[in-house]
Amino acid sequence: MPQASATMNVMIAAARKAARALARDFGEIENLQVSRKGPSDFVTSADIKAEKTIFEDLSKARPGYGFVMEERGVVEGTDKTNRWIVDPLDGTTNFLHAIPHFAISIGLEREGVLVAGVVYNVVRDELFWAEKGAGAYLNDRRLRVAGRSDMRDALFATGTPFNGKPGHAKALGEIERVIAKTAGIRRFGSAALDLAYVAAGRFDGFWERGLNAWDIAAGAVIVREAGGVVTEIDGDDFMKTGAVLASNQALAPQLQQTVRGS
Ligand code: IPD
Ligand code: CA
Ligand code: CA
Repeated sequence: MPQASATMNVMIAAARKAARALARDFGEIENLQVSRKGPSDFVTSADIKAEKTIFEDLSKARPGYGFVMEERGVVEGTDKTNRWIVDPLDGTTNFLHAIPHFAISIGLEREGVLVAGVVYNVVRDELFWAEKGAGAYLNDRRLRVAGRSDMRDALFATGTPFNGKPGHAKALGEIERVIAKTAGIRRFGSAALDLAYVAAGRFDGFWERGLNAWDIAAGAVIVREAGGVVTEIDGDDFMKTGAVLASNQALAPQLQQTVRGS
């Protein structure tokens, strides 16, 4: 394993511990052993359990740090400079449908700057992690974004609104424009893994609107440390608007222009 800081080791340990319970719960879904209350209640409890483990472990290791978590929301810390940004289960719909593509995402923000991230694909045991200024890794292998610069060769990931979230027409228009000039599009259902895959050079880029800070924080550090660009689709702050776009240096402006239709 390359040299990880003490804080990174704390993040990795928390992710791995929460992952063990998630993997067990996922096994039950795969075997259709879910409780009579129905799979979505079961998933919600798996999600809350994972979040509790992460919350307790991080709180113990770094007392005073604040939190932004999907289930608990904001937990103010006594230390106002450090804040964990956590999604205990990204890819809930996949989990619920026994599709083995979901992750735990833990980001760390220091004085308003994203400084560390872990995205852990539980089923594949793929740990994507990065610290600002120290590179990005998949397990112990250094990551680098893809080198393609021609849109025609590039494969992009995106996410589309669901469950009554607005913006379908806009999303479909964006997809149509991107499909027309690229090698294709994937919608895999985990924004954190979409970002990690951009860092790993599997996807040439990713964009999605309507995300939350916990979907993006860890993945953004990992993409940047892999040499990629992470930006807001329309030029704002993606941690506030949730409209994120990630790619390599050559393709990011082309993808942004295509998505915006400008
Ligand atoms: C979702 C996933 C999905 C994205 C959604 C997110 P969740 O997170 O990242 O890919 O399209 O916008 O909400 O609900 O599975 O944690
Ligand atoms: Ca999420
Ligand atoms: Ca989630």
